[in-house]
Amino acid sequence: GRPVRVALLGCGTVGTEVVRLLHEQADDLTARVGAPVELVGVAVRRPNKHREVPAELLTTDAAGLIDSDVDVVVEVIGGIEPARTLLLAALRAGKSVVTANKALLAEHGGELFEAADASGADLYFEAAVAGAIPLLRPLRESLAGDRITRVMGIVNGTTNFILSAMDGTGASYAETLEEATQLGYAEADPTADVDGFDAAAKAAILASLAFHTRVTAADVHREGIASVTAADVAAARELGRAVKLLAICEREVDETGGEAVSVRVHPAMIPRSHPLAGVNGAFNAVFVEAEAAGQLMFYGQGAGGAPTASAVLGDLVAVARNRVVGGRGPRESAYADLSVRPMGQT
Ligand code: HSE
Repeated sequence: GRPVRVALLGCGTVGTEVVRLLHEQADDLTARVGAPVELVGVAVRRPNKHREVPAELLTTDAAGLIDSDVDVVVEVIGGIEPARTLLLAALRAGKSVVTANKALLAEHGGELFEAADASGADLYFEAAVAGAIPLLRPLRESLAGDRITRVMGIVNGTTNFILSAMDGTGASYAETLEEATQLGYAEADPTADVDGFDAAAKAAILASLAFHTRVTAADVHREGIASVTAADVAAARELGRAVKLLAICEREVDETGGEAVSVRVHPAMIPRSHPLAGVNGAFNAVFVEAEAAGQLMFYGQGAGGAPTASAVLGDLVAVARNRVVGGRGPRESAYADLSVRPMGQT
């Protein structure tokens, strides 16, 4: 069939791996999609810094690339602007969007979902939460017939890497953070990781999908790991516990007897016998509880270029296939009206 034409916005840790996988898996992707998946342009700020990408694909004009003859826009720039403006333009033009941008979805998800549903475009974002772990599509699709009551787990690889190292080797916080940055786990500004902003954004996305309620990062009670000392980790160890940064999203009953949603991110001391205590390094793990399904656990690599690119490619196959067969992914703009508990009130 006619090729599915793909524009890539951004080419950092994740984007580089997306380009590599698109190239290496080209034949398999064609078979799975039912048409060739063709990378037609890569928008970057500094084209001379990307020798791994064929020069003729590189451009500094992201808006022009989106406006050109492309079917799918893959965004791995991160941050709010210009990503928000670019993706809204793509969705309004009916182009499918695949994004790894958790900050953007956590702050402006509602606007993006509405734009997607208005034009009938697909908006997929598996890579935005928990890296390679298939988690968002299970929430949006596999569990769509169930009622989710709780989502809880470790959703930031960098802080889990740091806490694991402090617990295991007793390495210092600063040197471990430096290592997490070298390994491509940490955000461009690693305070987003250590202060819990990254986990809070992911928690907002998880709660929005799980409870069909608009939850933004500002609704999330947030506490990072900056105040966790080596002595705290050692003391926890003495008590048979481990310190983990947890994201917890719960359905609750509020004072008026109505249904509410509460979302929080904070360090917690958990028994070493708990499955989350055994999740180390840049791995993530998330428990989901639903009324009919009971408890489910998702585990895998939550950060890093290749694991995150795996999730991007999976989404790319889904949206490309939808275009080939004329189908559409799940809609998110219709929401239940649960109250979201004010920050800090749990
Ligand atoms: N900085 C993030 C983390 C990357 O450490 O989990 C994955 O979103």
